[in-house]
Amino acid sequence: DLPSPVLAIESSCDDTACAIVAADGTIMAEATLTQSGHVPFGGVVPEIAARAHLGALPALVRDVLDRAGMRPGDVGAVAASCGPGLIGGLIVGANFAKGLALAVGRPFIAVNHIEAHALTARLPGITPDGAPFPYLLLLVSGGHCQCIAVEGVGRYRRLGGTIDDAAGEAFDKVAKMLGLGWPGGPAVEALARQGDPTAFALPRPLMGRAGCDFSFSGLKTAVAQKLAPHDRAALPHDVAAGLAASFQMAVSDIVADRIEHALDMMPDARGLVAAGGVAANTALRARLTGIAQARGLPFAAPPLRLCTDNAVMVAWAAIETMREAASRNLPIPDDIALRP
Ligand code: KG4
Ligand code: ZN
Repeated sequence: DLPSPVLAIESSCDDTACAIVAADGTIMAEATLTQSGHVPFGGVVPEIAARAHLGALPALVRDVLDRAGMRPGDVGAVAASCGPGLIGGLIVGANFAKGLALAVGRPFIAVNHIEAHALTARLPGITPDGAPFPYLLLLVSGGHCQCIAVEGVGRYRRLGGTIDDAAGEAFDKVAKMLGLGWPGGPAVEALARQGDPTAFALPRPLMGRAGCDFSFSGLKTAVAQKLAPHDRAALPHDVAAGLAASFQMAVSDIVADRIEHALDMMPDARGLVAAGGVAANTALRARLTGIAQARGLPFAAPPLRLCTDNAVMVAWAAIETMREAASRNLPIPDDIALRP
């Protein structure tokens, strides 16, 4: 029998999260706090993030335990995201989890943050078929943009990824240029709905090239150039909306092309899964759904709160890891190196 339930902590970026999940995937309680201290800076400040995790974790963990009707000693195992991510926050979360595990005499499980995103689609209830291996994962967030062949628990093959910015970063930069605030993805999407996606001719870097790498920095620069002749303080609405729509269309075209290539590289894929904050984008989701349908594959994207950084995915990855280790008579990985 697997240790259950798992209490997990996520602190790799600007979300402080805790969740308690039973071995069968039942979410007993969860909470995510998005830090507000970064807003004036228009991006995540690592030092602020680490200190905010340190301040928020004790009360957050207590609150999640209370809501699950549990005491610390009722927890079967403790897990934490141990990288990749911002090192200060990772150390805070991993050490909090290790201390808790030590105090209650339960195992500690180190979880890779990308692996947690990769396995979320398999959480019971997310997809009708439970996302059987192997599947293609598109991870698109503010920090990540990559295509991963998910072949099994602990078995991942990176097919391609960004050679410069992540897609979410490009959305955030374009939002900043258009004066929309941070984080900018949802604001760009809302504005794009009012604009003409053919209003501006924008480049689609790497489109048509072999493989499935991504590049967004040239697109970002092109948006800045289109804006250059305008007074940004008095930007006409149709220009702003047209640029947002043209930019979103360019991103969708790029991602669609890269995913077609990634699926060609993975002929045994049984499904397409998207995760990360940008996977919330409706236009992008529609494109991905179309691509999967044309190939007779299911497309799945976890609901938004499980698509962005959260602790449920960390708990679930720990559960899948423990199950895999048990089936092979291997020890539970309790000390992977913290990786920035
Ligand atoms: O996964 P996430 O919450 O955090 C990490 O970066 O790890 O992703 C946040 C990113 C931000 O860049 C945000 O602008 C983008 O996801 N995003 C979106 C949308 N919602 C969030 N981008 C495009 N369209 C959206 N609807
Ligand atoms: Zn993430």
